[in-house]
Amino acid sequence: MTLHKVPLIGLLLLLAIIVSPATADGPVCPPSTKLSRASFPEGFLFGTATAAYQVEGAVNETCRGPALWDIYCKRYPEKCKNDNGDVAVDFFHRYKEDIQLMKNLNTDAFRLSIAWTRIFPHGRKEKGVSQAGVKFYHDVIDELLRNGIVPFVTVFHWDTPQDLEDEYGGFLSERIVKDFREYADFVFQEYGDKVKHWITFNEPWVFAHAGYDVGKKAPGRCSDYVDPTCKGGRSGYEVYLVSHNLLNAHAEAFEAFTQCEKCKGGKVGIAHSPAWFEPHDFQDSQDGASIGRALDFMLGWHLDTTMYGDYPQIMKDIVGHRLPQFTAAQKAKLKNSAHFVGLNYYTSTFANHVENPDHSKPRWKQDSLISWEPKNSDKFTIGSTPSTGKLPVFARGFRSLLKYIKDKYANPEIMIMENGYGEDLGETDSVAVGIADHNRKYYLQRHLLSMNEAICIDKVNVTGYFIWSLLDNFEWNEGYKSRFGLYYIDFKNNLTRIEKESGKYYRDFLSQGPSTGKLPVYARGFRSLLKYIKDKYANPEIMIMENGYGEDLGETDSVAVGIADHNRKYYLQRHLLSMNEAICIDKVNVTGYFIWSLLDNFEWNEGYKSRFGLYYIDFKNNLTRIEKDDIFSICIVMEISHGDFGVSRDDLEAKLVILGEETQR
Ligand SMILES: *[C@@H]1O[C@H](CO)[C@@H](O)[C@H](O)[C@H]1NC(C)=O
Ligand SMILES: *[C@@H]1O[C@H](CO)[C@@H](O)[C@H](O)[C@H]1NC(C)=O
Ligand SMILES: *[C@@H]1O[C@H](CO)[C@@H](O)[C@H](O)[C@H]1NC(C)=O
Ligand SMILES: *[C@@H]1O[C@H](CO)[C@@H](O)[C@H](O)[C@H]1NC(C)=O
Ligand SMILES: *[C@@H]1O[C@H](CO)[C@@H](O)[C@H](O)[C@H]1NC(C)=O
Repeated sequence: MTLHKVPLIGLLLLLAIIVSPATADGPVCPPSTKLSRASFPEGFLFGTATAAYQVEGAVNETCRGPALWDIYCKRYPEKCKNDNGDVAVDFFHRYKEDIQLMKNLNTDAFRLSIAWTRIFPHGRKEKGVSQAGVKFYHDVIDELLRNGIVPFVTVFHWDTPQDLEDEYGGFLSERIVKDFREYADFVFQEYGDKVKHWITFNEPWVFAHAGYDVGKKAPGRCSDYVDPTCKGGRSGYEVYLVSHNLLNAHAEAFEAFTQCEKCKGGKVGIAHSPAWFEPHDFQDSQDGASIGRALDFMLGWHLDTTMYGDYPQIMKDIVGHRLPQFTAAQKAKLKNSAHFVGLNYYTSTFANHVENPDHSKPRWKQDSLISWEPKNSDKFTIGSTPSTGKLPVFARGFRSLLKYIKDKYANPEIMIMENGYGEDLGETDSVAVGIADHNRKYYLQRHLLSMNEAICIDKVNVTGYFIWSLLDNFEWNEGYKSRFGLYYIDFKNNLTRIEKESGKYYRDFLSQGPSTGKLPVYARGFRSLLKYIKDKYANPEIMIMENGYGEDLGETDSVAVGIADHNRKYYLQRHLLSMNEAICIDKVNVTGYFIWSLLDNFEWNEGYKSRFGLYYIDFKNNLTRIEKDDIFSICIVMEISHGDFGVSRDDLEAKLVILGEETQR
């Protein structure tokens, strides 16, 4: 490896391609040599997110009344993995310590939710206000502000007052609209001078679909033909009714907000949670057309309505009489009833057009005329799913979704209210395994990069990003087994919080601290260079004789740090992907690839301090070779590049959309 001049070339390419001119027609991205906070527009907010029932515990303190999930998990413990939120992760008592964790992560903002029954224990003001509950959220918000952390507050994160469930069925009744407005208005008036960012509803799609169409989440309702263990319900009907009432409740709350004097200068939105979709069969035009329909059903259902005042036409056409209708007055209130688009993104799937729905067994997914497929017609998976991961990891879907929203909804302001990686470590769960969460770190790197591309290249107006979640917590029907936190919660040891690798990564990403890398990482330059050689020198055969990542770990050099070489892994993934694109899209004739180097070794003028190896050499211990963390994904990408020579370019490009993320056959 010879380092001379390479830094300069890397930097020039970077400046030429990434720096965007300061024009009025999109976000302005500063030049940066590595992906970090500094690569995002000024004022961009980075944070973490939680929800009351998932973290607070203390369910009987402050005269808090029972909420839907309290009762659901007690009545049907098997539906909550025998867990519940009685103690959760004790945020109620530990919020001050947890705010120090947020500070430690260098975050700017924090998203919490208010528990309705901590404010109105029985759902309505006339039945009593808990002053202690009201004070609790003042205390949390004040503590955040004292620490320079911007509060984002969700008004409703699924914890309907049980008394309203018992009285009239909660969101199944239009009576919820008035009661929700009263509650929302109360919290706006109470906290609106201190809190300037609000989410009325978290994930209306999940709330309605999981709760009332497939019965996986409280109140666990669906038809027998969907799941015989459901607790009553009617799939294909209630899901639309619940969303209808929720949307009207949102519009009323929005109106209350605009009439709240203290709230001036604040913003309100909804946190939507669509997946991204890729066609199941690239040759099938039906599948291509399905993408828009899938998104209309999953996102437009609530987003069209709050922007334009009514449901997407396709939903009205297909769902027919089962979809309630808005009155003219309701439409008028719904129209433009959000200041920004809140977005929770986790994963993507393939959309397969459904030819023959069974009209006798209606349900939301069938109504969309889409089946969700884990593999496409060529048997490719979407992205990759680590064995302990909950969902396929597909960061390109994130960028595609952002671009879609920009184009379809006239370039609104978007805030990423959730993005994160869930895993169930099963039998292997322990502090040591839980904090070595390289998959989560990788997930975050990829998604931050995709978001950066959406902002800086596609000019999507994204202004904030929240990781779900600060801490492992109560993951609803999955109990405490499913972990999403940047901090590990040791449930066996007094709920101790322990920083994970992902937390360390986010902290460094936000700090712009010193880096151990020797050179800027810029995989696009690799592809550009290959294309340049192909064009300029009449398409010669090219073999990559060296490619690799050098680092000087300085004081921190040790076996443990040296083999946890996630930056090298990331470097190789990006460069293999770029080479794959050069071969499969640009048709450069590359026939071999060698990583520099098998082992850490004598790096000329830099001696042994500069490490490039796939194996760590322990110079203090008889030159022992120890494998580093960096080899996954190599064979997979290579295999595809071979197999795909000779197929049409369009076909390949379409596939490569999917292949971006070390896809497996
Ligand atoms: C993004 O949206 C915000 C809020 O509407 C607006 O103030 C800002 O100018 C927009 N930024 C760009 C680059 O369009
Ligand atoms: C909270 O109070 C209810 C009603 O009194 C009781 O059934 C429940 O066990 C209490 N929960 C906790 C965690 O103390
Ligand atoms: C558990 O942790 C809390 C919060 O850090 C602390 O106040 C308490 O003393 C701990 N309890 C035990 C038994 O260690
Ligand atoms: C790549 O170059 C080699 C050696 O010249 C040649 O045999 C091969 O056909 C070329 N492959 C393609 C796809 O152009
Ligand atoms: C050092 O490693 C070499 C090669 O594995 C081995 O043959 C030798 O016995 C080792 N020496 C000591 C002192 O462990």
